[in-house]
Amino acid sequence: MPRFDACLNIDELRRVARRRLPRGLFEYIDRGTEDEASLRALRRSFEDVPLVPRVLVDTSGRTLRTPLFGVERPLPFVVAPTAAAGLVRHDGEVLLAQAAKAAGVPFCVSTQSITSVEAIAASGAELWFQLYVWRDRTLTHDLLERVARAGVGTLILTVDTAVSPKREYNQRNGFGVPITPSLRGGLDVASHPVWLWTVLLRYLRTGGWPGYAHYPAEFHTRITDAAASDRVKLCDRVDWSDVAELRRRWSGRIILKGILSLADARRAAEAGMDGIVVSNHGGRNLDAAPAPLSVLPRIAGEVGHRLTVLADSGVRRGSDAAKLLAAGAAGVLLGRSMLYGLAAGGPAGAEHALALLGDELSRTMALLGCRSVADLRACRFGAVEAAGEPAVRPLTPVN
Ligand SMILES: Cc1cc2nc3c(=O)[nH]c(=O)nc-3n(C[C@H](O)[C@H](O)[C@H](O)COP(=O)(O)O)c2cc1C
Repeated sequence: MPRFDACLNIDELRRVARRRLPRGLFEYIDRGTEDEASLRALRRSFEDVPLVPRVLVDTSGRTLRTPLFGVERPLPFVVAPTAAAGLVRHDGEVLLAQAAKAAGVPFCVSTQSITSVEAIAASGAELWFQLYVWRDRTLTHDLLERVARAGVGTLILTVDTAVSPKREYNQRNGFGVPITPSLRGGLDVASHPVWLWTVLLRYLRTGGWPGYAHYPAEFHTRITDAAASDRVKLCDRVDWSDVAELRRRWSGRIILKGILSLADARRAAEAGMDGIVVSNHGGRNLDAAPAPLSVLPRIAGEVGHRLTVLADSGVRRGSDAAKLLAAGAAGVLLGRSMLYGLAAGGPAGAEHALALLGDELSRTMALLGCRSVADLRACRFGAVEAAGEPAVRPLTPVN
């Protein structure tokens, strides 16, 4: 198996991750939902938009430094919240936070992380927290207070997951939360002894079976328990009144993640949100969802002056990130790329993923004639929706 630092791009890190992780876990991370149409559409959306360069521009002093929420950061990236990252490596969330800290970018802790926000905070990274509103609002609000006490200032409320999406491969693989014991799952784990020894057995040796750390003590079930309480399940009755309630309770920033329509983006601004993430959850939820790149220019153009517009889903190259930034995003969240890096090389592997994407972004900027992320964001995203527009809308730097 090649070492993580021999990997020259995210796809090569992915291939190492695939060999290292049990198939059920790898597919949980890697794949989409239902027929995986939105996953394919994501890739196509990046490939179909060319970037038209301006040449003979001195880009020797170019920088990736960029402000996000008033703080200057070395890279326009945020490590996205990913459930169960702690199964990829032992203490995976802590390792991701360490990598984020080393790169100077925020790390967003998932509600469904294996390690608690308090333990992750010890890494000293800038932590954001991603919230799923549970059926029991009192428990949800208790969690909020706990997160605030841990020193988190930025909350991401995920709004695109009213129910569990239909991911049939998880059922086939016997992977899910709760994990259902099966012969296939057992053989899968047994055929990955390094993962078994360094992750699962290490949890068992040091503290017990890995579970969801943010679930309240009385429901702090093991991940394999079938009887997770209804009170902490995903809720299909979350609406704008919950957003208003959170706005009253949370004094820090709130970002809504999973916005794809202009109407919802406007409503988020009216509800006093500080930001939105234009996202289709990495093609993992609604299989009919549009790719963020196709809706971002319109959304960022209309609400970008009222709140911070971030974007994610499908970024595997620096040029993908460049396209989201050129289409109006102020920053880009990275999900799977970070998990592939983490699987392949622990915190150094996750840092390697960030470095690869940063390097590719910098080269893309130089080849485009952009000296800064601001130059990139000033790119013209074609004449969006003009009549007679050619099918491919080029992005052109304006300098
Ligand atoms: C394994 C995995 C788990 C995820 N868990 C969560 C989660 O708990 N909360 C959430 O808001 N988004 C979650 N996401 C979505 C990511 O935050 C992000 O939107 C998505 O991964 C971006 O696409 P990318 O993976 O192609 O970069 C998860 C994604 C993956 C791959």
